[in-house]
Amino acid sequence: MGSQGVRAKAVSPPSLGVDIVVHGDAQAALRRLPARSVHLAVTSPPYNLRLPYAGYSDDRAHAEYLGWLKDVWRDLARVLVDGGRFALNVAPTSIKAFRPIHHDLTHDLRALGYIMRTEVIWYKQTMGRRTAWGSWKSPSNPHIIPSWEYVLVFSKGQWKLPGRKEDIDITGPEFQTISDGFWAIPPERTRRGHPAPFPEALIERLVKFYSYRGNTVLDMFGGTGTVGAVARRNGRHYVSVDSSLEYCTLAERRIREAKPVPDAPAILPPQMVELGGVP
Ligand SMILES: C[S@@+](CC[C@H](N)C(=O)[O-])C[C@H]1O[C@@H](n2cnc3c(N)ncnc32)[C@H](O)[C@@H]1O
Repeated sequence: MGSQGVRAKAVSPPSLGVDIVVHGDAQAALRRLPARSVHLAVTSPPYNLRLPYAGYSDDRAHAEYLGWLKDVWRDLARVLVDGGRFALNVAPTSIKAFRPIHHDLTHDLRALGYIMRTEVIWYKQTMGRRTAWGSWKSPSNPHIIPSWEYVLVFSKGQWKLPGRKEDIDITGPEFQTISDGFWAIPPERTRRGHPAPFPEALIERLVKFYSYRGNTVLDMFGGTGTVGAVARRNGRHYVSVDSSLEYCTLAERRIREAKPVPDAPAILPPQMVELGGVP
């Protein structure tokens, strides 16, 4: 009993910084990020479509899946700055077992108090490879093919994100194109060993439209580091989290290799952080 009378001081784990790839659970990472430290979160969570992710079972009961994500969005709200944005990429579910998951997620995020800014339609231009017609040329049971995904965009607390004029990098033509909410962008063809990476062009639009240079951009389901690579290239700090060590290793290399665009402030290459807490 050498410690008798000495109350052990609770040691809180050090909080996470920026320019990192975190191997760990999304919620564990969010809880280690300082409050009001993230300006923009961009993510695409597992869609519960039984995709073959390394080390994660993408097959939960629907209510349990939504409950889990709602907890993640609650933790995210703490780390966003006032006016911070959250862009959530979500795909329609499969044709036969169709579930309006984008409605469920929208409902949950609004119930948590997020302000909904918009809903972007990402048109993937994939109709050329169409096969599943349902009842061909008959009203009996025809199928609409989801050739699009959504990007649901929210703000925390207020619409405006404060920032300096000098840190704006979007051009007039880019602003005009992006503010039309129908985005025709082909899906990512370079898979890098991951079943569902999103294309850099999609993320570039979100990063330039919704954040300033020098801001911090987070992806708590970061996969192969698309958000981190685009953020670093465009002079933003980044935090990329994934529960798979394999994807984090890919992300670390990809972000390290991302070269800054002309005039972008230099952002450090990633440090790997081993967090654990993977369910
Ligand atoms: C749709 S993918 C994201 C792909 C990413 N946008 C990209 O471009 O590579 C979802 C990711 O969530 C990860 N994941 C699943 N459960 C997780 C958890 N609890 N915490 C953190 N990441 C998790 C999976 O490993 C997978 O890489």
